[in-house]
Amino acid sequence: MDTSYSRNDLSMVVEADKAHVWHHLTQHKPFETGDPRVIVEGKGLRVWDQHGKEFIDALSGGVWTVNVGYGRESIARAVYDQLMKICYFAQSAGSVPGARFAERLIGKMPGMSRVYYTNSGSEANEKAFKMVRQIAHKRYGGKKTKILYRDRDYHGSTLATMSAGGQDQRNAQYGPFAPDFIRVPHCMEYRKHELGLEALSGEAFGQAAADAIEAVILREGPETVGLLCLEPVTAGGGVIEAPAGYWERVQEICRKYDILLHIDEVVCGIGRTGAWFGYQHYGIRPDFVTMAKGVASGYAAIACMVTTEDVFDMFKDDADDPLNYFRDISTFGGCTAGPAAALENMRIIEDEGLLENCTAMGARMMANLRGLMEKHKVIGDVRGKGLFLGAELVADRVTKEPAEEKRVQQVLAECGAQGVIIGATNRSVPERNNTLCFSPALIATADDIDRITEAVDVALGRVFG
Ligand SMILES: Cc1ncc(COP(=O)(O)O)c(C=O)c1O
Repeated sequence: MDTSYSRNDLSMVVEADKAHVWHHLTQHKPFETGDPRVIVEGKGLRVWDQHGKEFIDALSGGVWTVNVGYGRESIARAVYDQLMKICYFAQSAGSVPGARFAERLIGKMPGMSRVYYTNSGSEANEKAFKMVRQIAHKRYGGKKTKILYRDRDYHGSTLATMSAGGQDQRNAQYGPFAPDFIRVPHCMEYRKHELGLEALSGEAFGQAAADAIEAVILREGPETVGLLCLEPVTAGGGVIEAPAGYWERVQEICRKYDILLHIDEVVCGIGRTGAWFGYQHYGIRPDFVTMAKGVASGYAAIACMVTTEDVFDMFKDDADDPLNYFRDISTFGGCTAGPAAALENMRIIEDEGLLENCTAMGARMMANLRGLMEKHKVIGDVRGKGLFLGAELVADRVTKEPAEEKRVQQVLAECGAQGVIIGATNRSVPERNNTLCFSPALIATADDIDRITEAVDVALGRVFG
């Protein structure tokens, strides 16, 4: 850590923070008697707080974002050089890094062809929702406006994306929501009893979970449904990977009823699961793919809504019609720092073989967590893909009654005390905030992974005995 920071300097920072900053997702009452954590510096997988305490960050910036790790000089330089050339111009014009990154990105996404730049994951998702609504008006006489989303999935913090939010506790007190957003059931095998599908397993369960989507479409009327929006691996809702058989059926159902498929890769995109995109593990051909967090690893704000040439074509077929194009703008979608950082971020992932490292280190972490299951009865399930893993804590393995949320939070605190930052599903699904979350940067070494899981081992022992 840079020792030029003195405790005194930072105590003033902490006071300023306490007096004026409203932290995200945070109840502030405890800060009347204690201090918030201020993260001062980061290098690789490690961060330092205001006391100079070092942590291994097993969450990539708290919310699975900093995929290439902290302190990347080459990204900072790429952003600097670009800002000195031109920092901004509205995306109604093009930009050099915008065009270059779009070409590089599309090169990783066979079947996709157009990139729409925005500045957050929520906003990227809303662009797709707006396009679907406009397609409904242009092509289907105002029908096909309904947007299906899945129980436990999350698509953002704005009111429209919360209308597509499958996490009731997160949504509580923020309604009423936008009309024509319809929920479909989750596909979590560990909790298949909630779906009445406990008799099925493996592929049969996966197909039945997808058939439940078809049942909703038939109930609503296929002529009213325009979009199915899904996370490839549900993130904040519990790190849920769909079972075998699910995605093939989902694709079939979308084709059968002429429903566009939107995959929200805000968390999984750009390497988190060991492929460039989560959906690429499952052979899916989406119509929309959205991404944000890892696109530039947090070095600049950038999000993308990517679609196919078929969708794009629907917005340019009549140049004389003043309503025929996508009449939308995102001011900061024109910031050039985003694509400049994203280009360098992608180069690093390629040149350092980080997809391969993610797969190998993900397998190691999965094996370590499975090992902990033998020792700690409180771990009911371990799941995920690549360096995107969850461990669900239960009071009873047979009934699967969730572990108490307070004690799950104690596990985080005990890991923090050992200098390891991990996460947990938090105030999202009522009675289901019991999954520990892990998403270290894709540069993690075997030693880093072992240190993280050793801290979890100790923490579980302290909290649950
Ligand atoms: C799957 C998913 N989609 C969308 C979002 C929203 O992204 P943002 O916070 O950049 O608006 C998130 C954020 O956590 C997310 O996890």
